[in-house]
Formats: sequence, structure tokens, C-alpha cells
Amino acid sequence: MTVTATDSATLTPRPYQSYTYAYPHKTAYRPLSPAPRLADLWAGESRQSLSLYLHIPFCEVRCGFCNLFTRIGAPDGLPGRYLDAVRRQAAAVREALGDAETPRFVNAAFGGGTPTFLEATELDRLCDIAESEMGVDLRAVPLSVEASPSTATADRLAVLAERGATRLSLGVQSFVEEEARAAVRPQHRSDVEAALARIREAAVPVLNIDLIYGIDGQTAASWRYSLDAALAWRPEEIYLYPLYIRPLTGLGRRVDPAAADREWDEQRLRRYREGRDHLLSQGYEQVSMRMFRRADAPPQGPDDYACQTDGMIGLGCGARSYTSRLHYSFDYAVSMGEIRGIIDDYTATADFSRALHGRWVDADEARRRHLLQSLLQAEGMPVAEYRLRFGSDPYADFPAELDTLAARGWLDGDRAGQLRLSAEGLAHSDAIGPEFFSPDVRAAMAAYETK
Ligand SMILES: C[S@@+](CC[C@H](N)C(=O)[O-])C[C@H]1O[C@@H](n2cnc3c(N)ncnc32)[C@H](O)[C@@H]1O
Ligand code: SF4
Repeated sequence: MTVTATDSATLTPRPYQSYTYAYPHKTAYRPLSPAPRLADLWAGESRQSLSLYLHIPFCEVRCGFCNLFTRIGAPDGLPGRYLDAVRRQAAAVREALGDAETPRFVNAAFGGGTPTFLEATELDRLCDIAESEMGVDLRAVPLSVEASPSTATADRLAVLAERGATRLSLGVQSFVEEEARAAVRPQHRSDVEAALARIREAAVPVLNIDLIYGIDGQTAASWRYSLDAALAWRPEEIYLYPLYIRPLTGLGRRVDPAAADREWDEQRLRRYREGRDHLLSQGYEQVSMRMFRRADAPPQGPDDYACQTDGMIGLGCGARSYTSRLHYSFDYAVSMGEIRGIIDDYTATADFSRALHGRWVDADEARRRHLLQSLLQAEGMPVAEYRLRFGSDPYADFPAELDTLAARGWLDGDRAGQLRLSAEGLAHSDAIGPEFFSPDVRAAMAAYETK
């Protein structure tokens, strides 16, 4: 994987290098030896504002752009066995947390893959596991669920709404059928519209629509067409994703992922600016490079809470968990055969009492993580908060990196009070993220071999 790339002619970093949604990236995780006991890892941790994430690694299709940890379909009985394993894992985690302090969850999310690949009764079971094993009151916290159009059926949506889902995120990618085909995401516009109608019917408070720009054949006009088709539903949130072509994906096998050229970069930057400006003109606020929220939408969703919480409990074989010192998960892969093997190992696991793969987060990594998670949000980072948490100054901790951002015109505002990206800085979030990765994390990511 290329972690940083600079155009040698201009010394301007390439804009699309790495989506820093979590730091350290999963490709920097390694087998933990010895594997620590969860009870020891969680011993000194606060349980006062935990996040719960449940990962469902099944999809109906494998989209050409997708490198998420998920398999196509599930043979008879696999979803049931998977949920059995999630229940065992949940029980092990709950035991590791102990009885001294009741864990308090502040949000929950079902992600994937496609959680709505599960049938209505299976989704009910998933909610039961969250409630009875982990003690989360799903109706009392924000609960976000990802769905694809064909799996967002009325019966599944009804279960989710009844169990307390507050946000339904639908992957649409494009309302133009030829573009969906070009992204190897076969779907009909009419099915997408019908799914959106069902979600509105189910009255989940927040609808999010994911769109992708940079697809082969997409133009300014066709991009505007997709944006307007999304806006017609007045979704509370819209995510605009730049297309990435990654190794071992359907598109990656056709096009060399390393061959992303300047022209494509420029095209994606143009689509980004068009999309951003259009959404801003239609009453949306920008939350981050990818996320836009309708200004009058109810303030809920994982991004309102997730920013600086250390405690994350991930259940399922593609989920990450975070304590303040260790980020951990199971093994990760992109190719179908490897993914199937990892899921089969997971469903056969009886003992979930230890963390197997992960990365220790020391004080230096914690500073980097804090800075990245705040700086890449449109509102930026309160400098006082950083000082209070770490007892040091971000300008002293990252002098070269922050000077470089300033020299490029990528910082804005009152630098002493709030460290914030300028509009151009935000547009280059995927170039800025990697500049704050530690040398160790860079080396681990570079050495990681996609399998
Ligand atoms: C878990 S999926 C969403 C739910 C559901 N599985 C679906 O596809 O409809 C996460 C989202 O990440 C975005 N995404 C994933 N891989 C991407 C890539 N290589 N380039 C751009 N966007 C990507 C897509 O917009 C996708 O909807
Ligand atoms: S984009 Fe969504 S539906 Fe497509 S393979 Fe990835 S997780 Fe599955």
C-alpha cells in the first residue's frame, strides 16, 4: 500500500491516499503474542461511555470497489452459526468487563458487509444479543444500521425501527444505472427508489445516503443528477465518497490500483467541490470531507459521539475493539477464500477470552489519533482540549506537520484556540491523514500484504 505519495514536480501530496476513518489502520494490526486476556485489557478502563459495534460479514454481491471484510451470500445455517458465535463472544466480553462497574453504552451500530442481509428474525436475535448479553438499552441510545437497497425490506426495517434504530444508512453509490454497472454494483434505479420509500415509511429518524464520485463515465452533469436524486428524499445525512480502487477488488483486478493518475485526481477533486457546493446550497452543513448533515436534522448518529471515545466494543469477526492501550480485532482479508476461512474459524471458536490481532497504542500514538480524529472534522480541534488531555501543545508535538499544512494554506481560523482545516485542507483530508501516521504505523502498513 502507498502510504504517502507526492507529485515530484510540485511537491503537492496526491489528494487520494488513505481514508483515515480509524487510526491506526487495521493493516497495521499484527498477531498478538502472547495474546492478552480481555479481562486484563479492560481492567483499568472506564465503562462510562462505551460504543458497541456489531459486524455482519455477509452481502448479496461483491461490489467492484469494495475491500470491506465480507463474503458473498451465506450457505444454509451460516447466519445462525455466526449469531451463535457473536453471542458467545458477547458473553466472554461481558464477563471480562466484570461486575464492579455496570458498562454504560452511549451508542450502538450494526455495520458490515450488509447487516440487513440477515432476515428479520435474525436481526431480532442480533438486537437480543446486544441487549441481553451486553446490557445495551437499544431504544435509549442512537442505533445506526447499514443497508443495501435490495436487503432493506419492509419486514427487516420494521424490526429495526421497533428495536430502536435511529439511523439507516443506505449504500446507493449512484442513481445512474450505467455508473452502478461501471462500479460493478449492479442495481436498478427503481429498486433504489423503492428502498428509499420503504425506509421513509419505516420512519427511522435519520436516513443517510452514500454516493461515490470518480466512477468511470461519470460527468459533472451525471454527478449532479445523482446528487439531486438523493436530495429529493431530503435525507438527514449524505456521505460523498471518492472512489478508491484497491488491490484484490473487482475493479482492482481490472485496473492497476497504483496507476491512479493526476487526471483522475483532478476529476475527483472537481466532483468533490461540485458536490460540496451543491449540498451547502441546499441547506446541508459539512461535518467532514465525506459527511454532510441537513442543517435542521435531529442531532444524532455515531459521528456525534464517536470522536474521542476510547472505549469501543466490537463483536463479530470483522469488528475492531478499542481500549485506551490496545486496538484489536480478528484477522483481516480482502479475497473471498481468505474471508470465508476467517469467518469459519470465528464460528468455530469457543474461547473468546483473549485479543488475537491488534496494535498497542502508546502515548505518542494516542496523540496522533486524537489529533487526526479532530482535525479531519470540519469543526476542527479545540487546542485547550488537547493540552488538557496530554499536557503538551499540538504545535510543539507536530511542528513540521502543522507548519507544512499552514504553508499549503490548509489551516484556517484562530490557530491558538481551534486547530481547523481550511476548505482546501478539508478537500485534501485523505492526503493530510497519512502525514500524521507514526513511522512505525507507516512501516507496518507498508509491510502488510493484502490477502
Ligand atoms: C458497508 S458499505 C454500505 C452498506 C451496504 N453494504 C451497501 O453497500 O449498500 C460502506 C460504504 O462505503 C463506501 N465505499 C466502500 N468502498 C469504497 C471505495 N473503494 N471507494 C469509495 N467508496 C467506498 C460505499 O459508498 C459504501 O456504501
Ligand atoms: S459495498 Fe456494501 S454491498 Fe457492496 S460488497 Fe461492500 S459491503 Fe457489500
